[in-house]
Amino acid sequence: MKFIKVKDFKEMSMKAAEMIADRVKESEKPVLGLATGSTPEGLYKILVEKYKQGEIDFSNTVTFNLDEYIGLPDDDPQSYHYFMNENLFKHINIPAENTHVPSGIAEDVQQECRDYESLIQSTGKIDLQILGIGKNGHIGFNEPGTAFDIRTHIVDLDETTIQANARFFDSIDDVPTKAITMGIGTILESKEILMIISGEGKQEAVTKLLQGEISEDFPASALHKHPNTTVIIDEAAWGDN
Ligand code: F6R
Repeated sequence: MKFIKVKDFKEMSMKAAEMIADRVKESEKPVLGLATGSTPEGLYKILVEKYKQGEIDFSNTVTFNLDEYIGLPDDDPQSYHYFMNENLFKHINIPAENTHVPSGIAEDVQQECRDYESLIQSTGKIDLQILGIGKNGHIGFNEPGTAFDIRTHIVDLDETTIQANARFFDSIDDVPTKAITMGIGTILESKEILMIISGEGKQEAVTKLLQGEISEDFPASALHKHPNTTVIIDEAAWGDN
């Protein structure tokens, strides 16, 4: 695992966007794994800028998002479908049919998990998977205690995750308690992983990640088993480490 320390959110976003742009340019049919949340917002803005300046063409890119809340329709402003459309998809030339986010309103969510997993498998490997990290070390919505070989599945969100995500909702009672997430096993099959970490609130998670102990109690530690992972961390998140 390679750690890169950068000054701030802006530098982290720029470095991450450059890496993604390079992978998109290098491949005839790039497959990207994408994340939502506050951390990738800056890098998506930069990718949109790069697209507008004619630097990147997304017409052959395929994307798979990590997760979606169960119960939120695609057009709900808090859904991850909506987040991706607003922050990236509607501003670039990626064909809608190439973008994939698990459906949180499928009639049979178990089947949706199996279908999503099969779709990833049949597309081939994800070339570059973008990840944020939860304060508790979650990746996607794989909360502490999740098996490292698990595939796309339904999760009960941790109380700490519900509290952390309440900032996006009117009230904590509106935060869904369940989600569909790509599994850690699915994530680890990506050819390359890029984790981005910003802000003081993530210092404890960074300390654990740098310590290098591998444990299901800290899901992000599974990345130590991956042969090609880069972690970009800003100074605020790095703290005294
Ligand atoms: C989002 C996701 C989550 C976030 C994590 C950090 O798709 O999978 O694991 O990456 O909760 O969220 P932020 O970036 O908002 O701190």
